This record gives sequence, structure tokens and C-alpha cells, in this order.
Amino acid sequence: MKNPKIIPLILFTCLFSKGIIAQCPIIPAPSSYLKFKDRFDFQNLIQTNFSLIPANIKAYFTTEMSVLFNLELKQMENIKPTISFLKVESAIHKDWYEIDVKTDHILISFSSDASCFYAINSFLQLIEKKGTETYIQNCKITDYPKFEWRGLHLDVSRHFFSVEEVKKYIDLMAFYKFNTFHWHLTDDQGWRIEIKKYPKLTETGAWRDSTVNNHYTTIPRTYSSEIYGGFYTQEQIREVVKYAESKYINIVPEIEMPGHARAALAAYPEFSCTGIQQNVPGLWGVFDDIYCSKKETIDFNIDILSEVLELFPSKYIHIGGDEAPKDRWKKCINCQRIILENNLKGEHELQSYFIKKIDKYLTSKGRKLIGWDEILEGGLSPNATVMSWRGTQGGIEAVKQGHAVVMSPGSHCYFDHYQSKNSGDAIAFGGFTSLEKVYSFEPIPAELSLQESKLILGAQANLWTEYIPNMKQLEYMTFPRALALSQVLWSVKKPSYKVFQDRLIKKHLFLLKQKDVNYSKAIFYPKMTISKTKNGIRYNFKSDLKDYQFIENNANQYGSNSKIEYLEEIKVNLDRQRIPNGETAALIVPFYLGLEIKPIYINYKLHELLGLPIKFITEPNERYSYNKELCLLDGIIGVTPWNSGEWLGFDTTEIIFEVNLLKEVEIKNVYLSFLDDASSWIHLPEKIIISTSINKKKWDVFPFTVEKNKNTYQINKNAKYIKYKILTKKSIPQNFPGEGKTPWTFMDEIMVNFE
Ligand code: ACM
Ligand code: ZN
Repeated sequence: MKNPKIIPLILFTCLFSKGIIAQCPIIPAPSSYLKFKDRFDFQNLIQTNFSLIPANIKAYFTTEMSVLFNLELKQMENIKPTISFLKVESAIHKDWYEIDVKTDHILISFSSDASCFYAINSFLQLIEKKGTETYIQNCKITDYPKFEWRGLHLDVSRHFFSVEEVKKYIDLMAFYKFNTFHWHLTDDQGWRIEIKKYPKLTETGAWRDSTVNNHYTTIPRTYSSEIYGGFYTQEQIREVVKYAESKYINIVPEIEMPGHARAALAAYPEFSCTGIQQNVPGLWGVFDDIYCSKKETIDFNIDILSEVLELFPSKYIHIGGDEAPKDRWKKCINCQRIILENNLKGEHELQSYFIKKIDKYLTSKGRKLIGWDEILEGGLSPNATVMSWRGTQGGIEAVKQGHAVVMSPGSHCYFDHYQSKNSGDAIAFGGFTSLEKVYSFEPIPAELSLQESKLILGAQANLWTEYIPNMKQLEYMTFPRALALSQVLWSVKKPSYKVFQDRLIKKHLFLLKQKDVNYSKAIFYPKMTISKTKNGIRYNFKSDLKDYQFIENNANQYGSNSKIEYLEEIKVNLDRQRIPNGETAALIVPFYLGLEIKPIYINYKLHELLGLPIKFITEPNERYSYNKELCLLDGIIGVTPWNSGEWLGFDTTEIIFEVNLLKEVEIKNVYLSFLDDASSWIHLPEKIIISTSINKKKWDVFPFTVEKNKNTYQINKNAKYIKYKILTKKSIPQNFPGEGKTPWTFMDEIMVNFE
């Protein structure tokens, strides 16, 4: 029998002679990276054998080498190249490539044009520049992608982005090996694609006369009265499609139906159920007026799609299908007649009927329909692919029915959510999706078998632009989170988050800066932890990146031993006797970002319940149980719209918890705060029942009906214990997203004697 102790020794010897498995600077990390001794030094003139690679890749490579590294690539006859290319006919994956860096020569092997392009982008990320020296560490990379759909989406309806801006977005996607650009071209607030047969779509539908200020849930609403809009001509669309093709990115256009059609209906009201002329709305949300399901409307959409197919060679065509309230259909004689004539069981089947007609058309043209997961309702069309956004459940259901799926759940893939807890960050749609959370995403749900998981094409992040008014903010919301997603989608084996973070900071933030990207620096923010003290609570701020010095303009400054300074702690506790109830203040936490001092802002409120013992009889859902014991009593007010982790989320119809005031206190009123965000399935509860007691034997009970914008409820009782019972709607009402499901209840700070 062999001695097993020999094995590690043999392995070690092998690795030494073949190279060392090491951290690779490339994002997304390649399948295999072996690092060797010595390096390839770039001379000013680099001989390159370009004859085997497409002209667009040659142009890209030459330009990027010059712009990023000031290096010139040349091809000269009869001179031995220092970089050469080799096309391999059969490889283990259609997009396989290999880079072999030796001291005197670099060989780039590839199996497809796209993989040649991926290899070039990897190559660019391998180059190190220190002072006047430019080099690549000798290494061998073997690589290919894990998922075939590696997508980013962009909503150009809520805010419009110019052709040049869209091209920059595509450039950045390409650099990080995304291959699918989901272009959301139509929505309620603006129609953005020229359709020759229906010129009013852009003459009228591309322009709105107002835009809501602040978050759309902020009451009272105010509006800016500027005319806002824009659209792409068919010529411009062709130009962008061609541009994306040159970077191996497929553009999937989205033409929304039957909902999110107000801009189209402003131009052609005859395709609605009522025929009433309405404007292009300047308010965000979900509107009752959608396309009628009558034949004329379906023909109208097919006409539009026939022009769209001329412009976009994509196999997949996205037809939306989300958030289509059925109120109008219920009252429309045309819609009801179709239900009767086709033996449909109500309006969900009518939507399915509508989508099936479109599916039939697209299939007849050799294309594939893709839609948001609402297209499952009323029966999935035979050839449809599902994009799962309301969690992954819709995707799982579609896979179980044998359909292909792209995962894009709000929890990990909505980049219109906040990424930091800094109250100074610009307003966002809501939700909290940190870089680390994106990185933790796994597109294949655990409940799928190996066979079923093959139907998961991949995933994408969505950039809805209600609160993204310009390119700078788009970059801020997209980066660096897109790099985390690219890693999720590309690598068969994802490195640890710590390794990813290290690569990001040491190399990629610098590259992003060079590419003039306004990326978020949220990863450098000190993290806040809140803990109880004897008489109150303590806020503590600490950066877990203290080993990095961050100097944005110079990559060589990364990784030094200097520390980001951070504040140890800020005490907010006061003698409980003297708490100035209701006083609001902002913690301004300074921290160093390189040589710059940046403040982050955290709003807090002092009140009598700070840090008191709380007992949950009903547990919050574990996904939304952030700092459970303190969350409702920590002084930090969950920002509306829904920001960060300050809200406790419950998915039960009854919620019960109890607070111990430690001594008898006169309670004039109680204050509760709930989130109201129907688009995220979060609803106000219906009733709250407050019980107070001084001995836990006898309880006084105060029932209240919950009202919108009301937080304070009169009690006027002495108490040592307060019990809270919250009753929600039994299910989400009709015509709201998530209809029929248990509503979520999100709660934040509870206070007493606070007006
Ligand atoms: C969506 O976010 N309404 C697909
Ligand atoms: Zn109708």
C-alpha cells in the first residue's frame, strides 16, 4: 500500500514546477490562474500577430493599450511577434480562452470571436504599472463562462440616456464580460424608440410635461414642470446595436405590454379600454390604464414588434408583462367579450391570452419571447422564457414547467436599491442591496435538480431610473455592484468575498477611475453597530478595511499598511431621567478616504424607550430581522423610502411583542412607524391593539385602526409593560403586486409620549 503522506509532497512539487495557484487580479476571476516566477516586460513597441483576430478586436486592443497604459501595439512583417494569437477549433466551452504569459512571449488562444474579446479584457486587467515599468507576471490562465445570460438592464423611460451614454454603459459591461444588455425602451413615463408606422409614439409619447419631485411616496407630492423626454431614431438604434455587437453584447429590447403603457396610450388612446385621452404621466408607479386586450391593440403591438425585429437581431425579445392591474379589463366590454368567447377564467387568463398571441407572432419570426414573472399568471405561453424579479419563486415555478429562466430577484439584483446606510446618499427607490449581498447571490436555487438547473440561463441586474436622473448617478448605482454580479455569473468557482474585495480595491477602483466612472465608495464606509449599555445604547463605527489606504488616483498607493481612521464609538445614551424626548440629531461620522475626510450622516432620535428590553412573541422574517433586539428601540429612524436595514420585516398576519419599561411610566401616547410600499408587497397593517399593565396580571386594552400618515395613538395610562399586537390584511388585495399573498409588514422605531 502506498504511503498517503507522499501525496502532498508530490502535489507541492508539481505546483512548484507548474506554477502556483494564486490570487488573480482579473474580475471576474478566471477558472484557473497559475502564477510563475519572472515576468513579461513591455517595451514601447510591442510586436503583435493580429492576422487571426477580427478587425474590431484588433482596434479595441490597440486603443485600450494606448489609452490605459500608453503602450503601442504594432504588426510588422518578418519580425517575431511578442504577442501572438491562436484560434483553437475545439475547446471544452464555446467561449473558452487561454493566456500564456512567458518572459519573452505571450500566447492568447481562443475558441470564438467572443472568447478572443474576453481574453483581451482579461489581458488588459493583468497589466501592472509601477513607475516607468509596465509588465505582466508570468502566468497561465484558462477560462470560460459559467452562465450564458450575463446581463445588465437599463430603463431609459423614467430618465433618458443619450446614445453616447448608452455606449459608455456598454463599454463598461464589456470590460467586465457581461454579454446581454436589456434595454427597457418603453414605459409609462416615456416611449423611447422611433416606430415609423406610429409616429405619435415618439411625437407625443416621448415627452412628459412634469416629473414628480422627491420619492413618489412623499406626501404632499410636488412636481417640476419642465418638459422632459427624448427618443432614439431607428438609425441610432442600429448604431447602438452594431456597437454592442462589436463588443460581443446582445441587446434584448423590451417593449412593455399590456401594462406600463401610458406613454403609448397618450399617443394612441384608442388602444386602451376607455379610449380616454390622458397625458404621459410625470408620476412613478403602477397605473390602472393599460392596453385593452382587443384585436386592434394586439395588432398594434405586433406592428411595433415587426419594426423592432428589423432593428434587433436578438433571439430574445422582452415584452414586459409585469404590473398590469386588471381594473379596466373588468369593466371593458371588449375584454369581457374575449373572456367569454375564449372560455377564459377571468382577467389573468386574459393576460395569458394576450401574451400567447404575441408569443405566437415572435415564434413565427424565429424569435423567443421573454417576460417578467407575471406572465406565469393565467398560464405560461408555450415558448416563453421567464425573468424572475419578485424573488426567485416565479423562476423556480417556470423551470418546474420546463421553461428557461433568467434570475433577477429584487433581493440581490435591483441596483436601484440603496447600497449604504449613509443618510447623505441620494434618494433611491428603496431596499438595501450592498455589494456583499450582490456577491452572495446564487442564481441557481438550491431546490432545483442538476437537470432543472440547466434551464437557468443566468441572471441580470436591473437599473430602474426613477431616481437615477443622469449618467453620474447611473454609474454610482451600477458600480462596483456590477463587478460583484459579473463574478457571480462568470466564475465556475467564485472566490471568497474578501478576495474579491481585495482585487476590487487594489486594482479595479483605479481602472474604474481611469474610465471616468463615478463609482460608489460605500465599501469604505465605517460599519455601524449598535449595542446596549447600562442606561441606553452606543453607536460604534469601524471600518473592516483598515489595512487599505485609499488614494483614488494612484493604483500604487493601494495595499499599504496605513489605516483608514475610524471613530471608536459615539455614545448617545444619557441618564434615562433626562432624555430630551424626541430630539433629533444627525451623527456626522468623519472617516478618511485616502487623504480626504468624508463625513457620513446617520440620523437618530432620542426617546424614552431607547434600548429597553423587548420580547418578540412573533419573530420577524429572518431576512429582515436586522439587529432584532434593538432595531425598534435604537433611535435610528428607518428612512422612508425604505432604506438600509432599519426596518424589521414580518410575513405573518399577526405580530406580537412586548416592551418592559423597567419602571412605571405615564404613557400619554404610543408611536409606531410602518412602511407603506405596495410595489414591494409591503402594506400598512389594519389594526393595532395596545395593552398596558403595571404588574402583568391586569391589562388595559386599547384597539386602534391604522390610518395612513398617522403614527401616534392616545393611551393616557400608567404602565410598566406595553404589549403590541398588530393585525394585517389577510392577503394582498386585488390589483396590487403580489395579489393574494400574505402582505409584508415593515416596522421601525416605536416610541412613547412622542407627538
Ligand atoms: C419590475 O420591476 N416591475 C419588473
Ligand atoms: Zn379592454
